[in-house]
Amino acid sequence: MSTHRHIKRITAPHLRARKGAEPIVVLTAYTAPMAKQIDDHVDMLLVGDSLGMVLYGMDSTLGVTLDMMIAHGKAVMRGSERACVIVDLPFATYQESPEQAYRNAARVMAETGCAGVKLEGGVAMAPTIAFLAARSIPVLGHVGLMPQSVHAYGGYRVQGKDPDGAEAVMADALAVAGAGAFAMVVEGTMEWVARDITAAVPVPTIGIGASPACDGQVLVTEDLTGLFTAFTPKFVKRYAELGTALSDAAASYARDVRARRFPGPEHCFGVPAVDRAASDG
Ligand code: KIV
Repeated sequence: MSTHRHIKRITAPHLRARKGAEPIVVLTAYTAPMAKQIDDHVDMLLVGDSLGMVLYGMDSTLGVTLDMMIAHGKAVMRGSERACVIVDLPFATYQESPEQAYRNAARVMAETGCAGVKLEGGVAMAPTIAFLAARSIPVLGHVGLMPQSVHAYGGYRVQGKDPDGAEAVMADALAVAGAGAFAMVVEGTMEWVARDITAAVPVPTIGIGASPACDGQVLVTEDLTGLFTAFTPKFVKRYAELGTALSDAAASYARDVRARRFPGPEHCFGVPAVDRAASDG
C-alpha cells in the first residue's frame, strides 16, 4: 500500500482564477529539502534562475543553463506535493524565437513534471508567450525589473520611476496578459505602477519589490530566512536568521570534534550497552 499522501497539486488555472481574491503566496525553492519544508505554506514554488546567484555564487543570473534549471526543477518536484511548481527559463533559452522557447519549455515540463514556465519580457516577448500558451504551456510572465536585462539597464534599477518608464512597464504588463500568461511577476517598480497594473490586467500580479497592491507576493526563500547574506534588497523582510544558526551549529560541531566529545557512545556501533549506560549516566 502506498504511504504517500495523495494531495492534489494547485494548478496554473487555479491560480489564474484567484485574481482579486485571497493573496497568492509564492516562494522560491531550488532543492528537495527546501521544497519539503515550505510546500504546505505556499501556493506556488518558483524554481527561479536566481539560483545562479543564491546557490552557485554567480554575480548575475546570465550563466544559468537549462540543464541546471531542469535538475533543480526535478528536485523541487520530488520534494513537494501540494504547491504549483513553475520553473524559470534561463537567459538565451527563449529569446531567439517562439520555436526555441517552445522546444526548451516543453523539455523543462516533460523532464521535471512542473506545471509551467516563467520567462522575462513584455511587449517583445508577447508573441512568444502567445505561441507557448496556444500549445498548452502555462506561462508566468515577468515584467518591471527583469534581472536577465541587467546589462541593458546598466545595473539592477527600479523600473517605472518616471511617466515614460511607468507607461512602458504598463505596456509590458498588458502585452503579457493579452498574450495569455496565467499570471505575472511584477518586480522592482513603484507602488502606484504596480497598483495600476493590478487593476488593469485580468490575471494575478505577483509582486516582488512592487508593494502590497499586487494579487500575491514572491520572495527568495534564502533572502527571507537569512541564508543568503551577500546583499539584502530593500524589499526583503527577514523572518529568520538561519545563516547564523548554521554557522553556530558548525562551530559547536567543530568544538566537539576537537575536544573528542563527538561522536559519543550513542553514535557508535559496537559499543557495549553497559558502557553506554555508564556513560549515559
Ligand atoms: O529568479 C527568481 O527567483 C525570480 C523571482 C525572484 C521572482 O525571478
